[in-house]
Amino acid sequence: MEKIKVGILGATGMVGQRFIQLLENHPWFEISALAASERSAGKSYTEAIAGRWKLDTSIPARIEGLGVKKCIPDLDCRLVFSALDANIAGTVEEEFARAGYVVSSNSRNHRMDEDVPLLIPEINDDHLKIVDEQKKRRQYKGFIVTNPNCSTIGMVLALAPLHKEFIINKIMVTTLQALSGSGYPGVASMDIMDNVLPFIGSEEMKMETEPQKILGRFENNKIVMADITISASCNRVPVTDGHLESISIELEKKPSRQDVIDVLKEFNPLEEFDLPSSPSRPIVVREEDDRPQPRYDRNEGNGMACVVGRVRECPILDYKFSVLSHNTIRGAAGAAILNAEYMKVKGLLK
Ligand SMILES: NC(=O)c1ccc[n+]([C@@H]2O[C@H](COP(=O)([O-])OP(=O)(O)OC[C@H]3O[C@@H](n4cnc5c(N)ncnc54)[C@H](OP(=O)(O)O)[C@@H]3O)[C@@H](O)[C@H]2O)c1
Repeated sequence: MEKIKVGILGATGMVGQRFIQLLENHPWFEISALAASERSAGKSYTEAIAGRWKLDTSIPARIEGLGVKKCIPDLDCRLVFSALDANIAGTVEEEFARAGYVVSSNSRNHRMDEDVPLLIPEINDDHLKIVDEQKKRRQYKGFIVTNPNCSTIGMVLALAPLHKEFIINKIMVTTLQALSGSGYPGVASMDIMDNVLPFIGSEEMKMETEPQKILGRFENNKIVMADITISASCNRVPVTDGHLESISIELEKKPSRQDVIDVLKEFNPLEEFDLPSSPSRPIVVREEDDRPQPRYDRNEGNGMACVVGRVRECPILDYKFSVLSHNTIRGAAGAAILNAEYMKVKGLLK
């Protein structure tokens, strides 16, 4: 099979690097273009990255010498993955979609637009139908699809099967979020060593609004938000990768603890598609008292699974548990790649 040519916008950042790592040897996609800011454009990837490659595998040999371009829609590809800084992502993604590219984006700018899917293919693949409306309304030849914020995605992946089965009314969540979530160089070492930062700009707002869209119903050509009240408290902790979250939920139906665990374990809606980035199980339930932990569990399912542990009754709401997911894989690059794989099998990348 001839591979589909893909470009990466923001290829030099934390998430851009993950795209390069995850797409090396991808069976369907091949990187044909890299783009970043004016600072990087015109240089080879190795020159542009200038010591900022922060992953534990090397830069792939065929990427090292590839030239970095400006983020203008003249790249040799049909699909672009966007890992752009949010200050610039909004307009650049629009320009690419208008010019006919399919844009699979990580950035927050278009996530809540009513004609843009905020996609987790295990949960709301029917929201992709809104793309026709987007193209018509905006007169785009291509279109934009987004994936959720890195802290939202792990939580919603774990909550989706519970919402479907028992209906969630309320969510309380406290996060312990990794440093790679703030890009590179991110938080200054003097601010985070021996410390926890109890504030992450606009993160709580994203966690309190994105889930209602993802869990919303597609009705009469519109996404109708789910009626769930969410309270989020977000903290930055001195961990490199992997967001851990403590979650309590109130349910309309009252299942037993075992029912909750069974529903989480059985969830595997993409099984039939055999997508390259899809984990064998999107939710892994651990029974030990002290799991999940970022260092040991973030790479579960090649970083694409969310790990749930400590499922127990909550004296205030109904149940509480811990959820861990890898923020730059399932929470960013891996999510956008999975979205593109799903769009391919659904015939949206022609
Ligand atoms: N890190 C995570 O866990 C995570 C998770 C989910 C979503 N996201 C989102 O993904 C995006 C990238 O995050 P990141 O952590 O990878 O950030 P980052 O490390 O700061 O990288 C930002 C990228 O954007 C490029 N860029 C900056 N200004 C630009 C401009 N004016 N024109 C064109 N390109 C420009 C940079 O290129 P230069 O190197 O040339 O400056 C770099 O490639 C953000 O929108 C972020 O919110 C991040």
